[in-house]
Amino acid sequence: MAAERKRGGSRAGTVRTSPVRAGAGGSSPAPDPLRLEPARLAEVLANTNRPWVSLKAAVSLDGKLATARGESQWITGEVAREAGHRLRAAHAAVLVGRGTREADDPRLTVRLPGGDASGEGGAGRGASAQPARIVLDSGAVTPPEARCFAADGARRILIAADGAERGRVGRLRERGIEVIACRGPRPDPAEFLPLLRARGIETILVEGGAQVHAALIARAAADAVFLFLAGLVIGGSDAPGWCATLGIDRLADAPRLELAPPVACGPDLLLRGWFRRG
Ligand SMILES: NC(=O)c1ccc[n+]([C@@H]2O[C@H](COP(=O)([O-])OP(=O)(O)OC[C@H]3O[C@@H](n4cnc5c(N)ncnc54)[C@H](OP(=O)(O)O)[C@@H]3O)[C@@H](O)[C@H]2O)c1
Repeated sequence: MAAERKRGGSRAGTVRTSPVRAGAGGSSPAPDPLRLEPARLAEVLANTNRPWVSLKAAVSLDGKLATARGESQWITGEVAREAGHRLRAAHAAVLVGRGTREADDPRLTVRLPGGDASGEGGAGRGASAQPARIVLDSGAVTPPEARCFAADGARRILIAADGAERGRVGRLRERGIEVIACRGPRPDPAEFLPLLRARGIETILVEGGAQVHAALIARAAADAVFLFLAGLVIGGSDAPGWCATLGIDRLADAPRLELAPPVACGPDLLLRGWFRRG
């Protein structure tokens, strides 16, 4: 992948050396925009039984996740992609849906210049250098050979429906992949998120796709959005936006976010927002 071939820039561990900057110039360093804010995180952990959930996507200026043919690599540039790795490092787990797993076969690992995957205080990952990797896949059709299930010491989890074929589930478990079976035809965030929290996972970065983002927003189970916005227009109603149908007819019913000022990310912009509650 291009991101792995070209790893220019300095070690991106602190805001001073980060290529992602809030504003230009300025004498004192701005807070690191890729770090989870402790007060917001503590509030969610204290008041819910689920992990903190951040949604992340790299999108065109018109909010598209991919072309109508499903091409999405690469919408944003190298600096934004490195920032994406830093975001992974800041979370205890990274989650994708079956659609993204099949389209991109992502590794979901942290790959940063200098090889640092530790994140802020290890992001609650215990001994593993890498965040846990999670796939949402009702039928457990993801093969154990999927790149995100490579055995490197990180936790690997597949969230399936309880009707998933036993043979597939067995083959995954034989390779050390944890399989969590949920009720109903599709795993419901209201069921699997508390199960992940009970397994010690307190922060999750959800990297799409559109259907999974929508499922989490619809369940009021998303806390933050990190959108990397490229100066690129894809257009068309067939190209997917970053959030699939929410079934909202009235603006008054649309979830609103508190937005932070955009942050320059090489030629791209990072937009951050936090869902308003109550
Ligand atoms: N630009 C970016 O940053 C970016 C990031 C990610 C993906 N993408 C692109 O987005 C596309 C994939 O997105 P997508 O929306 O088609 O797929 P997706 O959201 O990744 O996966 C959707 C699938 O997840 C499974 N699933 C299990 N539980 C679910 C639940 N509660 N809610 C929703 N889905 C659940 C379903 O399959 P089962 O019914 O079989 O379980 C569903 O079909 C690809 O083209 C990919 O390249 C782009």
